[in-house]
Amino acid sequence: MSQFHVSVLLKEVVDALDVKPGRLYLDATLGGGGHAFEILKRGGKVLGIDWDEEALDFVRKKAEELKIELGKDIILAKGNFRDIVQISKENGLGKADAVLFDLGVSSHQIDNSNRGFSFQQEGPLDMRMSKDLAVKAADLINGLNKGELYELFTKLGEEHAARTISNAIISARGVKPIVTTLQLADIVAKSFGLRGEIKPYMRAKVNQKVFQALRIAVNDELNNLREALPSALEILGPKGRIVVVSFHSLEDRIVKWKFIEFAKKGLGTVLTKHPILPSQAEIDINRRSASAKLRIFEKN
Ligand SMILES: C[S@@+](CC[C@H](N)C(=O)[O-])C[C@H]1O[C@@H](n2cnc3c(N)ncnc32)[C@H](O)[C@@H]1O
Repeated sequence: MSQFHVSVLLKEVVDALDVKPGRLYLDATLGGGGHAFEILKRGGKVLGIDWDEEALDFVRKKAEELKIELGKDIILAKGNFRDIVQISKENGLGKADAVLFDLGVSSHQIDNSNRGFSFQQEGPLDMRMSKDLAVKAADLINGLNKGELYELFTKLGEEHAARTISNAIISARGVKPIVTTLQLADIVAKSFGLRGEIKPYMRAKVNQKVFQALRIAVNDELNNLREALPSALEILGPKGRIVVVSFHSLEDRIVKWKFIEFAKKGLGTVLTKHPILPSQAEIDINRRSASAKLRIFEKN
């Protein structure tokens, strides 16, 4: 199996969390546990949340291998981080010292073609990070009307060719339903005039924003984030921190403006006037880190 996930801005994130032995840290996006295990190494206790059972299973096994006490040093919880207050209460926890959001999908989710996130590999057009979600990408692609598809690609994909792509989808699905990743990727590529066998890098170039828009919509990512940030603030103790790593401008804008709003209300201080970015050395090793932005807010 390929590596579950390569953590982005690992040292920067754990420094930002200001980990102190015995204190409580909420990792709202556990993934492969890269950040969580680093917090444990520094003596912190962790509540690790993910809505993907596969992430929780992976971390559970790894914790057992490392002889980390489950339920004591690290508690694992399945759920949507927008319910972070509830999840924390259900686990009998008091105020936290910091909450981490490392947004988006894990490499495991992208690399597993059955999950349907990749426009490079054939798979069902699914894109649900959690199997508990009801709507798949195929439901949106085959069910939304032309105007709704246009709005989706414009608002969540910031795609300039949204009209052309929506038209191509409407005519293709009139022939047969669009149910796989490569089927959709080819329709999008052909709407850009690409013909014959489409090279993977061209497929990627024209499909990135379309797949991004669908993924955000299927998982309701922006609303989850909007709701989770005030909840995170609520469960922090004095001087507690919210640390967020985002990967595209729509998320980063939400984080930036929520933090400014909290500061204006006198709830605390934005510690990152400008976001912290990965070094060139990190980008060279892990291309996925290139768009990462780290922002920190400290409660009063
Ligand atoms: C980028 S990965 C986290 C990687 C992790 N920090 C590491 O170092 O291995 C993001 C994880 O967050 C999870 N996730 C995304 N949105 C979520 C939500 N609303 N609620 C719970 N988990 C979520 C995804 O399932 C994924 O496993």
